[in-house]
Amino acid sequence: MTGEKTSRKNVAVLISGRGSNMECLIRASRVETYPARIVGVIASTPAAAGLERAHREGVPTAINRLAEFTDRPAADAAMTRQLHAWKTDIVCLAGFMRILSADFVDHWHGRLINIHPSLLPRFKGLDTHRRALQAGDAEHGCTVHFVEPELDAGPPILQQSLPVLPHDTPQTLAARVLEIEHRIYPEALAMLARGEIALPPAPTKH
Ligand code: GAR
Repeated sequence: MTGEKTSRKNVAVLISGRGSNMECLIRASRVETYPARIVGVIASTPAAAGLERAHREGVPTAINRLAEFTDRPAADAAMTRQLHAWKTDIVCLAGFMRILSADFVDHWHGRLINIHPSLLPRFKGLDTHRRALQAGDAEHGCTVHFVEPELDAGPPILQQSLPVLPHDTPQTLAARVLEIEHRIYPEALAMLARGEIALPPAPTKH
């Protein structure tokens, strides 16, 4: 094994649905010079179509259903155990539509990133494309950011915008934004995996 390969970061991806961003990360990691490898995928539901994609790519998967645990922290602690079993260095949220407990976010501080389909801080939460159209925004886009306890918050790593076109619908806009999501997510992950960016340490709790 070469030194370059052993220094690659182990990355796990958390999904709830289709998994197209997850698939892009897996494909990017197949390039030998890419600084990360995908060691596993956790889905919040067995219905996530991305599980099938992960199987096709030969990536190990696990399911973590909130309903099977006493509460959210217990479910998230089970995810952390699974992530450690995979020797995970970095966790990528890719359409993981479940709020994470503060303990989970603290535990993975600086090693937990998310992609969101808007130019954050605009349009946190759901239905971002419809909301951008309703607001009459001339530009829309997507953001990869470090995760902090508040929903869709945390310092941005990469953000890319595109013009909103006169006849755009939420669907046409979503499709164009998804194309740029697929470009910036592997790029942002590579920046973190190479140590080019870092989140300052979390304040110590007393
Ligand atoms: C993506 O558009 C992602 O930005 C969004 O969910 C979609 C998942 O698609 N994430 C969020 O809205 C997070 N707040 P995918 O499963 O095909 O990657």
